[in-house]
Amino acid sequence: MSLQVENLTKKFAGLTAVDQLSFTAEKGKVTALIGPNGAGKTTMLSMASGLLSPTSGSITFGDAVLTGLPGHRIARHGIARTYQNLQMFEEMSVLEVVMTGAHGLGRSGPVAAMLRLPSVRREEKKFEQVAREALDRVNVPSKLLARESASLPYGLQRRVEIARALVAEPRLLLLDEPAAGLNPTETEELSRLISGLRDSGLTVLLVEHDMEMVMSLSDAVVVMNFGKLIAVGTPSQVQSNEQVVEAYLGVEDVGA
Ligand SMILES: Nc1ncnc2c1ncn2[C@@H]1O[C@H](COP(=O)(O)OP(=O)(O)O)[C@@H](O)[C@H]1O
Ligand SMILES: [Mg+2]
Repeated sequence: MSLQVENLTKKFAGLTAVDQLSFTAEKGKVTALIGPNGAGKTTMLSMASGLLSPTSGSITFGDAVLTGLPGHRIARHGIARTYQNLQMFEEMSVLEVVMTGAHGLGRSGPVAAMLRLPSVRREEKKFEQVAREALDRVNVPSKLLARESASLPYGLQRRVEIARALVAEPRLLLLDEPAAGLNPTETEELSRLISGLRDSGLTVLLVEHDMEMVMSLSDAVVVMNFGKLIAVGTPSQVQSNEQVVEAYLGVEDVGA
């Protein structure tokens, strides 16, 4: 299923962070969403994940209209995200962090959880199994699962974040600057990981500043500036687009 964004707008007080934005992230492809700082990329992802509600416009995923739905309902449509700032919790183990991604999937209520009913324990066992599988999928070695997540090298923390998103078994994965703070080797490994997820059928919407990664990994690139779409196309098409080069001038070499 593809993600379709139409005339999407988000206003904050006096500022239009996303302005009449339209694009499609095709099923089974990696679509990169790029643009200078403040362009509105994170705001866009937050509307797609239900953290923010749009001012106007629409978001659909396949036949499902997502516009304005709260995050837990959007998650049920098979959409998961990672955040620009790592969300590792002090003192939680790697396995526990990833298991938090399964919250909301469970059917046992808070009372059952408090009473530690057998149904809850069974559910937790299942979540643990799913978390282990997700960590295996992103190549986090099993010997690290009991380690405090915040103590891991950055590259591994990013993988743990992706694993947490994967436990919900999404069909659409929204990634917000997953390569931020990674060294070139870690970035390359991350690229391979995302490429593998795409090959397994996941649709990926990737917000990323690392242009080398964007241009080598993406099937399509959507370029924003000041909340507006300024270009869309294949990596080579946007690289040679004058408006794109202008938007990045002095910021970054788009072709780097
Ligand atoms: N919750 C908010 N309240 C007010 N302004 C915001 C909020 N979130 C983002 N903005 C503003 O919206 C614009 C787009 O921000 P953002 O989506 O984070 O951009 P990007 O991720 O492309 O760097 C920026 O000018 C930012 O300051
Ligand atoms: Mg951002």
